[in-house]
Amino acid sequence: MTVKLDNADLGKASRKAAAAALSAHVQVVKGTPLRQALSDALAEAKGLGGQERHFAAFAVRELSRHLRWLDAWGRAYGCPPSSFHLKEDAAIIRYAIWRKHRLAAAPVQILAELKLPGPVRPRSLPDAALQKLLDAPTPEFPLPEEPVERAAAVHSFPNWLAARLATEVDATQLEPLLAALNHESALALRVRPPLRREAVLASLRAQGVEAELLDEANQAIWVPNGRRAVFESREMKVGLLQVMDAGSQRLAALCAPAEGAKVVDYCAGAGGKTIALADAVGPAGRVYASDLSKRRLEDAQTRVRMLKLTHVSFPSELPVETADCVLVDAPCSGAGTLAREPDQKWKLSEKTIAERTVSQTEILNKLAPRLKRGAVLVYGTCSILRAENEEIVDAFLKRHPTFGRTQPDLRVWPHQSVGGGYYGARLVKG
Ligand SMILES: C[S@@+](CC[C@H](N)C(=O)[O-])C[C@H]1O[C@@H](n2cnc3c(N)ncnc32)[C@H](O)[C@@H]1O
Repeated sequence: MTVKLDNADLGKASRKAAAAALSAHVQVVKGTPLRQALSDALAEAKGLGGQERHFAAFAVRELSRHLRWLDAWGRAYGCPPSSFHLKEDAAIIRYAIWRKHRLAAAPVQILAELKLPGPVRPRSLPDAALQKLLDAPTPEFPLPEEPVERAAAVHSFPNWLAARLATEVDATQLEPLLAALNHESALALRVRPPLRREAVLASLRAQGVEAELLDEANQAIWVPNGRRAVFESREMKVGLLQVMDAGSQRLAALCAPAEGAKVVDYCAGAGGKTIALADAVGPAGRVYASDLSKRRLEDAQTRVRMLKLTHVSFPSELPVETADCVLVDAPCSGAGTLAREPDQKWKLSEKTIAERTVSQTEILNKLAPRLKRGAVLVYGTCSILRAENEEIVDAFLKRHPTFGRTQPDLRVWPHQSVGGGYYGARLVKG
């Protein structure tokens, strides 16, 4: 089975790109978050061109995404990655199988990419063994009979997670959902005011960027191909384009604050939604942002400063009591955005999901008595699990009957839209 990806924007494979991808993958396997491992490997790599960096990033996500599948192929070839003492060797086997089966690369090209120097390529895996694997005819690949386990094996998910996702969608939707969670995510952007997205689209096209409107959110556009060019565009350079999934834009838009309103962004992270909220309230309004993570909050502060959003502040005490709207973009499993963070597939567990639901409930319960009457409380996640979404909100409403939904909840599914899966509920305190 060889899968040729139709994505033309994979970047440029090379020996240096493979070395960076493998070094990042080894760190991911040892427990470093993928984003961190990738940024460290790219920072250490010398003389890597833009397209090679793009390929390395794609490769490292793919190796995590298809980990189970690649290891099963390794076993079918008679060289299971788990049998190698060195994680570097296991990584090389996975890379070779990924290039052969998912990208249909020629053995000679793969071998050239894997002629790696020094510590990235320990010499315990000889070229001859790799050559043998690459030249071997495709072996039998046994799949489980049971449909959910089979889907888990084909789409490379842990059985427990596939079984859990199977309870969230119709039986016919499980495979499309798992496939979408494996798909390299599209680059979606939010067009910031005062620009209008139709005008931005025309301007980007004139600059050679293949951008399209994204109907799902009012200010959204996306770049199906040639994403690098958009980062060179005038609009991006002056901060009028913000990288943001359409679902995430819709979640922020649920707050719908009036111009001049006072908004609290309780879990601001690196400030993605803070910026969207600041744009919505305008300079006459105020956004107060906070987060448990000091590091993420520093990132948010840097972004806000660079964009000169002087009506955003980061006080140690949030003015929840006087806010017109409080956004809780809650810590969650991230099950809706596994395409972007594929290492989470192997790090998540039923226990971590249960822990997140405890935090979600605690945050809401703590905030509820502090909100003024008439204030809006928006609760959102990038999870597609009911346990972190409707069930949290339903339990909250039972406990705090003065709150009520103002509209049906937002549900964005990764297999039905461009980008990740999101949830949001808009509540008002009566
Ligand atoms: C989904 S992320 C937020 C993403 C962010 N709003 C954005 O748009 O980029 C959830 C955030 O909640 C933060 N967090 C976790 N527990 C928290 C708590 N008890 N209070 C406040 N923030 C918390 C995490 O550090 C994380 O940054």
